[in-house]
Amino acid sequence: MSQADATQAAGQMRVRELVTPAGGAEGPGGAAAEPAVGSDAAHEVRVGRGLVGHLEDFFPGDVNRVLIVYAPTLRDRVLGLVDRLRAQGLETRLLEPPDGEAAKRIEVAQRGWDLLGEAGFTRTDLVVGIGGGTVTDLAGFIAATWLRGVRYLNVPTTLLAMVDAAIGGKTGVNTLAGKNLVGAFHAPQAVVCDLDTLSTLPHAAVTSGLGEILKCGFIRDPKILDLVWGAPRAALDPAGDVLHELVERAIAVKVDVVAADPFEHSVRAILNYGHTLAHAIERVEDYTWAHGHAVAVGMVFAAEVAARGGVMDSSLRGAHREILAAVGLPTSYAPGRWEQLRARMRIDKKNRGSHTRMVLLSGIGRPVLAEDPPEELLEAAYEAVSVTARPLGEGGIG
Ligand SMILES: NC(=O)c1ccc[n+]([C@@H]2O[C@H](COP(=O)([O-])OP(=O)(O)OC[C@H]3O[C@@H](n4cnc5c(N)ncnc54)[C@H](O)[C@@H]3O)[C@@H](O)[C@H]2O)c1
Ligand SMILES: [Zn+2]
Repeated sequence: MSQADATQAAGQMRVRELVTPAGGAEGPGGAAAEPAVGSDAAHEVRVGRGLVGHLEDFFPGDVNRVLIVYAPTLRDRVLGLVDRLRAQGLETRLLEPPDGEAAKRIEVAQRGWDLLGEAGFTRTDLVVGIGGGTVTDLAGFIAATWLRGVRYLNVPTTLLAMVDAAIGGKTGVNTLAGKNLVGAFHAPQAVVCDLDTLSTLPHAAVTSGLGEILKCGFIRDPKILDLVWGAPRAALDPAGDVLHELVERAIAVKVDVVAADPFEHSVRAILNYGHTLAHAIERVEDYTWAHGHAVAVGMVFAAEVAARGGVMDSSLRGAHREILAAVGLPTSYAPGRWEQLRARMRIDKKNRGSHTRMVLLSGIGRPVLAEDPPEELLEAAYEAVSVTARPLGEGGIG
């Protein structure tokens, strides 16, 4: 399809503004200038170092029993904590699920419920989830469902879990029908992000988390983009101050958006920027792609749709590619798979009925919702994203 065709098609695209609570459209410095970490009304979010070394400081005072659900990779660190808790007289049970998505199975939750039953867990006791998003989703789900909700302490140890999975109170498990179809909203007592735990994270997991962090920059906090653009290498260093600030800012974005729409009826949709294509890529790739990598490609795709549809200034799509590439995130996807991807976009659970809804940007910090973007426009955007050997920047685009 030619550029002229795409522009014509754009005339049919219906978009509506998504008003964000603190005025994300204020421009640089206006949105989330003061990170709101720790000020979320529902629960405390702490970002710091050495926090797991005294995790019990975050326990409510009247706890007698604790269930710790932890990622197998963190076993050694968790055993030290368990010794301390037992020495303090706390009855401590352990659940080590299988690694990765295999943790989010109802049989594993069942093992958790059995442990809680054996221990005589009451509403004043505490479930602690320590690990990546799979573990925190599972542990949160066990806490949400036992006695219709017991207290939960969320200790994310991957970058993705810190800025995304652990924030917002969504918990859940997978079923044969798909991922995250069974779950509950359950706010934790506190979210404890110990940046020291990230030192063992594989590089691909760091860049994956950066994908979600940059998404927060695009939809709401331009300072995130400035920080990454100014020091892309430092942004990838878990020991440095830049990543610390990025984590706080990304959490602040999610906390604010979730506070405005806790049950995902309206503005929370902006968190799905880049996710329409990302979910389709993840399905086509059978979940072998890191989530944040798929989101990076999905954001380039959304930028193509928005620029071609006349919703966003063309210079911004070049900015998408450049900043994502600066931290080593993918900006393109294999050609020739549009039909497969499109079919999967249609069954995304975030789409209502048979409609396709996509978050686009009319500018940085200005998300809009597009209802049923024209098919030709989507396909043209895919073609632009699927050309692998393209130079960075505006020169090679469109
Ligand atoms: N609840 C939500 O709102 C929400 C939001 C986004 C994602 N999620 C869920 O999060 C999950 C993905 O989370 P993830 O990317 O953290 O995956 P993950 O939990 O599978 O963790 C990735 C890998 O890193 C390992 N790991 C964890 N911490 C580590 C550390 N400190 N050092 C070294 N290795 C470590 C894990 O053992 C695992 O092998 C998905 O199931 C997704 O559905 C939930
Ligand atoms: Zn995501």
